[in-house]
Amino acid sequence: MNSTEIEIAAKLLQQGETVAFPTETVYGLGANALDREAVAKIFAAKGRPADNPLIIHCYHQAQIGDLARGWCQQAQLLMERFWPGPLTLVLPKQPAVPGIVTGGLDTVALRIPNHPIALALLRTAALPVAAPSANVSGRPSPTRPEHVWQDLAGKISAIIDGGVTPGGLESTVLDCTTSPFRLLRPGGVTVEELRELVPVAIDSGARGESSPRSPARKYQHYAPETQLLLVTGYRIQAAIQEQIQRCREKGLQVAVMSFTESRDAYAGAEIMDLGSRRNLETAASRIYHFLREADKGGFDLVIIEGLPPDDLGLALMDRFRKAAGGRIIQT
Ligand code: TXA
Ligand code: MG
Repeated sequence: MNSTEIEIAAKLLQQGETVAFPTETVYGLGANALDREAVAKIFAAKGRPADNPLIIHCYHQAQIGDLARGWCQQAQLLMERFWPGPLTLVLPKQPAVPGIVTGGLDTVALRIPNHPIALALLRTAALPVAAPSANVSGRPSPTRPEHVWQDLAGKISAIIDGGVTPGGLESTVLDCTTSPFRLLRPGGVTVEELRELVPVAIDSGARGESSPRSPARKYQHYAPETQLLLVTGYRIQAAIQEQIQRCREKGLQVAVMSFTESRDAYAGAEIMDLGSRRNLETAASRIYHFLREADKGGFDLVIIEGLPPDDLGLALMDRFRKAAGGRIIQT
């Protein structure tokens, strides 16, 4: 990145065009949040359903009052503790925010990303920028510029190359219009961290069940083309070994996405190593790349080793469940 690139990209945003840029979580596809036609280009490029609202990205808390109104002291506390960072707050919206951004809801989702390129772009453009993840709707989120290119080349005005994004999982989405606040999507900031400051209820949707509160829940997400199978519970290794055996008997190619501690248990399968269970940040940074690689590997089946839903495990299991699209073995 250099300052000329940022200036060109900022100008494109000001002119109502779409620009993909890195954040600390995943790449976003941005447009001027106050320009309806610009925002419509995001929905068109992604093939995104119109009732799935977008997150508006800001570079400074002083911008929030133009977009949201009447938020409570507890929401303010979270902004001060976690921004810039991977936490999106759903707040009552100001009338100035176009309905196309919020899917017609009277709330707006806001965050300040913690990435030098995103912050430089937002500051230079001096605009609130609506940005969903920069993938075709239903595909895994992009953590590398080539993922954006694969999905959106020819459909958007520019991609800023910031290399691999550091986080790898999307932001946590928290509804701050209810009491207690409700977790709509688990992400980079964990429930445990939030609960140090405020009470948080976990929406049934955030556990992978359906929920009317988070509009995205009804759409399939993060899905590669390869068939995936998630294995959870207390006998995970034995159940995966059985599945590998069955695949081999049928002459099928199988891969296992597993943690380093158990990789030796899965002889006969290709291993996609999520890193150690003791450092789930590594798994977070690898999951979407692995889901895209699964399609390139020519596997008949990719089995995913489940984990307890604590800390980042909650967000990882949410993404695993969605990617598996209901193909889950509970042991
Ligand atoms: O980390 C991230 O959040 C990335 C980067 C680019 O910032 N963005 C991202 O955006 O993941 P997207 O559009 O893929 O996911 C936004 C989520 C969706 O589940 C959407 O339904 C929810 O936020 N959302 C947005 N506005 C909302 C609202 N007003 N009420 C409830 N949920 C909302
Ligand atoms: Mg997305």
